[in-house]
Amino acid sequence: MFYLIGLGLSYKEDITVRGLEAVKKCERIYLEHYTSILMAAEKEELEEFYGKPVILADRELVESGSDEILLDADKKDMAFLVVGDPFGATTHTDLVLRAKKAGIPVEVIHNASVMNAVGSCGLQLYNFGQTVSMVFFTDNWRPDSWYDKIWENRKIGLHTLVLLDIKVKEQSLENMARGRLIYEPPRYMSISQCCEQLLEIEEARGTKAYTKDTPAVAISRLGAANQTFKVGTIEELSQYDAGEPLHSLVILGRQCHELELEYLLEFTDNSEKFKKDVAADQEYFKPAPWVPPAEEDDNEL
Ligand SMILES: C[S@@+](CC[C@H](N)C(=O)[O-])C[C@H]1O[C@@H](n2cnc3c(N)ncnc32)[C@H](O)[C@@H]1O
Repeated sequence: MFYLIGLGLSYKEDITVRGLEAVKKCERIYLEHYTSILMAAEKEELEEFYGKPVILADRELVESGSDEILLDADKKDMAFLVVGDPFGATTHTDLVLRAKKAGIPVEVIHNASVMNAVGSCGLQLYNFGQTVSMVFFTDNWRPDSWYDKIWENRKIGLHTLVLLDIKVKEQSLENMARGRLIYEPPRYMSISQCCEQLLEIEEARGTKAYTKDTPAVAISRLGAANQTFKVGTIEELSQYDAGEPLHSLVILGRQCHELELEYLLEFTDNSEKFKKDVAADQEYFKPAPWVPPAEEDDNEL
């Protein structure tokens, strides 16, 4: 059996009972190690907890070395561990398809994901639109296709979850060009950098998918003991120090329910200002009123 097991968001104990039982009977255990990190447990702690060695699986191994991961999984039990949920903002469908093509039975054991735990900031999951990913800009690569998705969400009043880039095992361009297997230290995008990039692209596009005054929610370390929420405008959050990773951001939609707003007020020192910011944003982004089509004039016949 090839087990795809979600680890949950933070602690080694966040794995489900069924997930742990599966891990304990597995011959080889891979931990996917490039789309997220388990904030409160290192590889060694997991190994001690499971009583088994854990192999870190970087992007290259998962994307080009899936034969190695699936080796013997038709005869023995193998586990592939994913932080959060295996299908939460990470698609390991390719691995599942390969396993199925090789006649290997697959079982998925789900867990909590940032995609649902984000609801703990008080915003209703029903009111979210498309999720977008913000990557680190470089001098000559500043992708902004996410902007149109935020715009689409905002047009129909929905909130946008923005997931932030992480770089866990990256080579510098120079090392890559010289074929040197030297890796840069891990980097995690912060809320403030994400907000700066949002403002840069809004200025370049100028079509007002949002403005510097649009309210947003900064979410750090969901599910960890020091999880934190902070609300503010995008401009304010571009100055906010959210501390240790992992970070996510929610850009508020126009349809912010009063209960959602009441919950969000917990995360500001200035409730009156935040209420005003939300009201102003909702007013600014109200769609043009619907005008009925002109009736045909029967007298013209
Ligand atoms: C590509 S997603 C992978 C999600 C994961 N498979 C899951 O189900 O939660 C990784 C991004 O989600 C966000 N994220 C994941 N866990 C988080 C957490 N506990 N707190 C805040 N943001 C988180 C961060 O922006 C991070 O870079």
